[in-house]
Formats: sequence, structure tokens, C-alpha cells
Amino acid sequence: MIEIFSLQGKKAFVSGASRGLGREMALTLAEAGADVALGARNIAGLNETAAQIKKMGREGLVCPMDIAKLDEIERAVDEAVKAFGRIDILINNSGIAGDTPVAEMTPEKWDRVMDVNLKGHVFCTQAVGRHMIANRYGKIINIASIIGMIAAVYNSPYAVAKAGLILFTKTLALEWVRYNIQVNALCPGYFLTDLNRDFFQTPAGQKVISKIPMRRLAEVKEIRGATLLLASDASSFMTGSVVVVDGGHTIG
Ligand SMILES: NC(=O)c1ccc[n+]([C@@H]2O[C@H](COP(=O)([O-])OP(=O)(O)OC[C@H]3O[C@@H](n4cnc5c(N)ncnc54)[C@H](OP(=O)(O)O)[C@@H]3O)[C@@H](O)[C@H]2O)c1
Repeated sequence: MIEIFSLQGKKAFVSGASRGLGREMALTLAEAGADVALGARNIAGLNETAAQIKKMGREGLVCPMDIAKLDEIERAVDEAVKAFGRIDILINNSGIAGDTPVAEMTPEKWDRVMDVNLKGHVFCTQAVGRHMIANRYGKIINIASIIGMIAAVYNSPYAVAKAGLILFTKTLALEWVRYNIQVNALCPGYFLTDLNRDFFQTPAGQKVISKIPMRRLAEVKEIRGATLLLASDASSFMTGSVVVVDGGHTIG
């Protein structure tokens, strides 16, 4: 591996690491040399990710948490810092879909998507960030979405949360540049995961695929390159950037 992509000796925390893109990104960091703390609710899923990391000879630390509960975030981050001594890389990835037309929206549904997809990441960043500030080093990757850059019907809370996460990324990049902390957003297009598997079997889902210039969904492994870029020294002059991995979806 080219040295600038190495994560040898680094310590990472990934939320939503029990399956899907979060698991794939945690495995990517581990393969590049990092020990990884794994946050989410499903302990069996986290254990599976940890087992795969341990097979690579790295530490995979299970830190159960519901990102909508601020005390659980604090506890999970404390466990990770106690075990690892510090956190160098944070990937804010937990997310849920928000598919409800505005006319049928309830305050509860709106708040749930905001709590998991936006507010939780703000406070997880704060909890990890105080250690990064003390160490004067950090790489934060916020997993937003192309549905945060372009609209999608029936997805208003999701789109608003993701757009918020993109602007949170830029704001925080400015606030924490003085501490040598880089903050970037990664916007996936459509990757086939549990989040959208059912949708892409419908005619509406097939229609979406037909409009992607590359005419296909991404495989989860296709998130690896951008993850490693933003987590490693390869992105040493990037902060407040929005990296899009979407098969050309947003270009027209
Ligand atoms: N797949 C795509 O096409 C796509 C496109 C753009 C953006 N994204 C974004 O990428 C991220 C990962 O999506 P995915 O496709 O991998 O979805 P996924 O397979 O459904 O995984 C979602 C992850 O988020 C975690 N999560 C959900 N609610 C949580 C909560 N309350 N507390 C803590 N963790 C929670 C889940 O863990 P538990 O259920 O165990 O808690 C799971 O690990 C999301 O932010 C999503 O918006 C995905």
C-alpha cells in the first residue's frame, strides 16, 4: 500500500457499524491498519463486524449505543477512549430512511429521522471531538447522501437531515481547523443495502436505476476508496469537502 493511505496505529470510531456501509467502512479502516470501535444497537451485528476485524489482526471493539440517546453516545465514546487511549478517526454513519409524504408527516416521524441522521452525529462528534481537540489531531467523516444535494419525493426529513449534515461538516471544518481536525462529508449515491433493498425491487426503484449514468447500483465495497482517502494522510489538504460517490447520478 502507498504510505499516505496507511492507517497503521490509528484508532477509529464508526457509528452504524453493525451492517451495510458502516461495516464495510470499519473493515476498510482495519485493513489499512486501524483499531476500530463499533457503535450501533444490534449487538450481534457489531460482534460479526468485530470478528471480521479480529481476523485481520486488528482490534474490533463493540460499543453498543442508540445514537438517538445522548447518554448512550457518551458511554460508547468513553468505552472506546478508555480502551484505545484516543480516537483519531470518526465516521458518523448511522442512518435510517425517512420515507413519508409531507402531507402524512407526524412530529414523531420527523424527530426520529432528525435525531438519528443529524442530531446524534452532532453530539457524537462533540463527545469524540473533545479528545481530538486535546490531541490536536482528528479526521471526521460525515456520511451524508446525494439526497442532501438533490431532492427526492417522500423523503423530506432524510433530505433535510443530510443537507444539514453537509452544512454541519463545513461549519465544523471552519471551527476545528485550528485544532488540526479535518472534517469532510462523503455523499454516497445508491448502494444496495438493507436501507433500500425493498425499494429497488419496485418499478419506482428500477426507474431510479435507469437514470443513473452508470446504469447500476453500487456494491458496498465501492465505498472503500473514498473512505480510505478521507481517513488517511492522502486527504491532508482536504477539509469541508463534499466527496460524491454516485455513478454520475448528480451530474444530470
Ligand atoms: N445505501 C445507500 O444507498 C445510501 C445512500 C446514501 C447515503 N447512505 C447513508 O449511509 C449510511 C449507512 O446506510 P446503509 O445503507 O449502510 O444502511 P443500513 O444497512 O440500514 O445500516 C444502517 C446502520 O445505521 C445504524 N443505525 C440505525 N439506527 C441507529 C440508531 N438509532 N443508533 C445507532 N445506530 C443506528 C444501524 O445499526 P443498528 O440497527 O444496529 O442500530 C446500521 O448499522 C446512512 O447514514 C445512510 O443514510 C446510504
